[in-house]
Amino acid sequence: MMNRGYYGKFGGAFIPEILFATIEELVEGFLDARNSPGFWKEYTDIMSTYSCRPTPLTFAENLTKHFGGARIYIKREDLNHTGAHKLNNVMGQGLLVKRMGKTRVIAETGAGQHGVATATMAAKFGFRCTIYMGEVDVARQRPNVFWMERLGAQVIPVKDGARILKDAINEAFRDWVTNMDDTHYVLGTACGPHPFPEMVSYFQSIIGKEAQRQIVEREGKFPARVYACVGGGSNALGIFSGFLNDPVQLVGVEAGGKGLDTSRHASRLASKDASIGVAQGYKTYFLQDEDGQMKETHSVAAGLDYVGVSPILACLREEGRVRFEAASDREVLEALSLTVKKEGLIPALESAHAFAQAFKEVSDLSADDNILINQSGRGDKDIFTIADAFTDPDWQEFIKKKAKDYRA
Ligand SMILES: Cc1ncc(COP(=O)(O)O)c(C=O)c1O
Repeated sequence: MMNRGYYGKFGGAFIPEILFATIEELVEGFLDARNSPGFWKEYTDIMSTYSCRPTPLTFAENLTKHFGGARIYIKREDLNHTGAHKLNNVMGQGLLVKRMGKTRVIAETGAGQHGVATATMAAKFGFRCTIYMGEVDVARQRPNVFWMERLGAQVIPVKDGARILKDAINEAFRDWVTNMDDTHYVLGTACGPHPFPEMVSYFQSIIGKEAQRQIVEREGKFPARVYACVGGGSNALGIFSGFLNDPVQLVGVEAGGKGLDTSRHASRLASKDASIGVAQGYKTYFLQDEDGQMKETHSVAAGLDYVGVSPILACLREEGRVRFEAASDREVLEALSLTVKKEGLIPALESAHAFAQAFKEVSDLSADDNILINQSGRGDKDIFTIADAFTDPDWQEFIKKKAKDYRA
């Protein structure tokens, strides 16, 4: 059982013995659901009535004119309930929890999107819910903490390590080991021990299934390239899965932060700074030092600021099936600004990485081609970071006044 879940030399399930039975129960629960004829329909039904699926494909006419190359299409995962692709995975795992008869869910979160999605699913299905979040992220993402608590979740700030996402994951595993009888760990991306990479990709494949049908219907042919940002890898695997067997170039875009020539980035597969290791239950490329200690990472987008990457993507890179690039913080803010002004769309900072890379390349393609960009989430949540980056004086005045009102 534990030999499964390898993608080339990556993946596996490196877990404490005490979790063996729980992981095995999850593998069986997942396979049973996946093989049961009504399960995918039950999943797509709830996604269409609760989360606006299928999400549309938008033709970006103004951006296409601006760049003068291939026709640009955008897959609108930002229109999901709670504002990102995260809900695809979370609702799927929620249905599994119901089938397994568990009553409590836990999750880690960095940017807070996955935490809000999990708290939302728990409210809908009636599960108790605890969210682990690094203390630094709690401070950075207060609006998401506010919503998680309103949705009935307990949010626990993690004070260990660098107090960010990787530390929240460690704490969630500690909770799971103690409470596995009634608790399911809703991991938020295609990382961690088997079966999480396979299971999360399975639920996110709804993006690629829809997108492949939609673009072929609209353009009568496949896109030349598909672009997606890569944190842990779930939205990228979701959209790529629809095109893996087609003559389409797949491009994963990581966080280039302050530049790949600095240590202030989170690029594992596009840089030469990561090496293969085992951590957090799986084997992949990690940004680590010679002693296997995880390095500090940086990105303007909290959701891409992670040390590891999906073992499935690591394998697809080795096979040469996916090309990996990095977009810097500056390029991302420029791409975001252009997209807002030209199309009236506000991509999340994470998603804007995919836009930035596509914009660098689109003029090289012919007007007969089309490309597809996955807008994994909406940018409203990033208002504080974006306003800081654009140093908007009126906004800063507004925040100062708010703070003064609270002190009064
Ligand atoms: C909007 C959005 N896109 C992308 C990501 C990155 O995650 P993944 O690589 O699993 O899609 C996040 C993570 O929080 C996110 O919130």
